[in-house]
Amino acid sequence: MTDARTASEPNLARLSAFVEGVSTLLDHTDDEADILLAGRRLLGRLVAMDDWLPDAYARPDPARYQQYLLHRDPNGRFAVVSFVWGPGQATPVHDHTVWGLVGVLRGGEVSQGYTVCAGDGIRPAGAPHRLSPGDVEAVSPEIGDVHKVSNAFDDRTSISIHLYGADIGAVRRSTYDEAGRPRSFVSGYADAPPLDLRPFGIAA
Ligand code: FE2
Repeated sequence: MTDARTASEPNLARLSAFVEGVSTLLDHTDDEADILLAGRRLLGRLVAMDDWLPDAYARPDPARYQQYLLHRDPNGRFAVVSFVWGPGQATPVHDHTVWGLVGVLRGGEVSQGYTVCAGDGIRPAGAPHRLSPGDVEAVSPEIGDVHKVSNAFDDRTSISIHLYGADIGAVRRSTYDEAGRPRSFVSGYADAPPLDLRPFGIAA
């Protein structure tokens, strides 16, 4: 089969293959360790190539980092989100409450894990680590769920692709201040519709 895409057309077949792979994986297991292991391979393959993310889902906002919903599983089992970091932008310290995988597509990120000690603040858990394009890391309540993520660059946009075991934009979770006090939040998504992957056989 020939590839009829022009050079500027996003290769949505690549994202569709990833979505299909995740869906099949979740059809076969609900074991988190298995999901993270196999999901890491799938996401690593997706972010190894930067030819598929449409520009509308790669736009930074000078005010704050953006979270574009790319695909939401019709059964609510997972969501795929592009995080777009403007120069120097960072999250607060936050949790997820569900498993998640983060793969860097463009630029770079720095991630610092934290331990929340009730009544005794937050403490760094290990050293900050830098993620470059193609790198993937995992979070979950089982393996470490609290971190702060920053754009590794002060002078350019970075983009990472996130896979979560829920419709993360609707999940009630928490940020943490220096004293370790949780503050409830629901992230939502940037104002853009999810991608239409139906031409690739992916149900909306
Ligand atoms: Fe996070």
